[in-house]
Amino acid sequence: MSGLFISFEGIDGVGKSTQADLLESWLTEQGKTVVRTLEPGGTEVGVEIRKILLHHKGDLAPRAEAALFAADRAHHVASKIRPALERGEIVITDRYFDSSVAYQGAGRDLSQEEVRNLSLWAVGGLLPKLTVLLDLPADVARNRRNQTGTEPDRLEKEKIEFFEKARSAYLELAKAEPERFLVIDASTDIETMQTQIRKAVSELL
Ligand code: TYD
Repeated sequence: MSGLFISFEGIDGVGKSTQADLLESWLTEQGKTVVRTLEPGGTEVGVEIRKILLHHKGDLAPRAEAALFAADRAHHVASKIRPALERGEIVITDRYFDSSVAYQGAGRDLSQEEVRNLSLWAVGGLLPKLTVLLDLPADVARNRRNQTGTEPDRLEKEKIEFFEKARSAYLELAKAEPERFLVIDASTDIETMQTQIRKAVSELL
């Protein structure tokens, strides 16, 4: 595949979409074709799955939750990401694979190994070339999220411990695959973070 696949990761409130937007604009200005997408909900089917995942009122078993995220991802890769990469385009996704390992694996206390394998199966082994991990302590990220004034969704209502586990898992994932991950301290300013990201992306263009 000739395109470039980039994912943004981090717990809720770290500022992923701001950084992804800035990267997208910069690449588009250079004449690149960029497919900007997200999980859950990057496709029509995904939008339906997202409604259950983020807004379902009753219980949802942890394995069912993991399977729904995997179903969203499977369709996302098959119908949108893989075709774009085959056309030689740049794909920027707000969340992918590592979100499931961090949130369902670590956060929900499922086996990280099992969640990883489920997700790998769902995407036929497709991993990003670069994963930008925006890192912040869970309490700082939560305060930032709350400042948006929007109603927290089903996952955002989780206790702070859930996000602490997810954050630690993300950092472990980054340590295990330093060639794929770029870890950014998300307490610095927007421009400083974006400069680091653009430098890493330049090296891959
Ligand atoms: P996101 O779209 O980042 O939320 P928002 O639109 O509010 O910024 O993600 C929705 C939530 O789903 C977020 O809390 C993280 C969670 N999530 C998982 O638990 N597992 C996953 O595999 C993915 C992709 C997201």
